[in-house]
Amino acid sequence: MNNAMDTSSPGRGGADGATACAVADQLTLQTLPNRDLDRRELLELASAIAAQPDLWTQHIAFDDDKRHYVSLYRDSHVDIWVLCWTPRNDTGWHDHDISSGAIAVVQGRLVEHNLAVDRPSLATDVVAGQAYSFGPDHIHRLTGRDPGSVSIHAYSPPLWRMGQYTVGPTGVLRRESVSYADELRPLDDMI
Ligand SMILES: [Fe+2]
Repeated sequence: MNNAMDTSSPGRGGADGATACAVADQLTLQTLPNRDLDRRELLELASAIAAQPDLWTQHIAFDDDKRHYVSLYRDSHVDIWVLCWTPRNDTGWHDHDISSGAIAVVQGRLVEHNLAVDRPSLATDVVAGQAYSFGPDHIHRLTGRDPGSVSIHAYSPPLWRMGQYTVGPTGVLRRESVSYADELRPLDDMI
């Protein structure tokens, strides 16, 4: 199987460049370089963790009201999470401040939404076996599509602050800085 490819933040935003997870010649928790990782490396790492279900299957649980996620690893350069999704789970629109990230879907199907101005937002399905990466410029919203969906997320530098977006009564877009420890969820009806 080919090495994971560093997909563009797709689309000018979407996840249409999602690539199949790879298993060979990848970064793993045992080969981290003790520095921040770039997008290609994050994609390799997320795919490597995805290929080791013994690292995350014990953490799988689902909750329609409070999205279930567990930190698998965190050091000064990278953090890794397993996230579990139902069709009702929704992060709302957000960014990752200065962090790049990679997401590998290991079970079910998620939808990657990308906010557009003066046109409908993009929505791209990401199915089990696909992974993609993004830079700190990326703004998105993730929702579960299939019941019982699971994804592995890797970020570098580790998430600390994130930006969550709302639209005020006058239609003005605003960014609220939130802690990575807060559960992301829609702050309003902004679609
Ligand atoms: Fe995100």
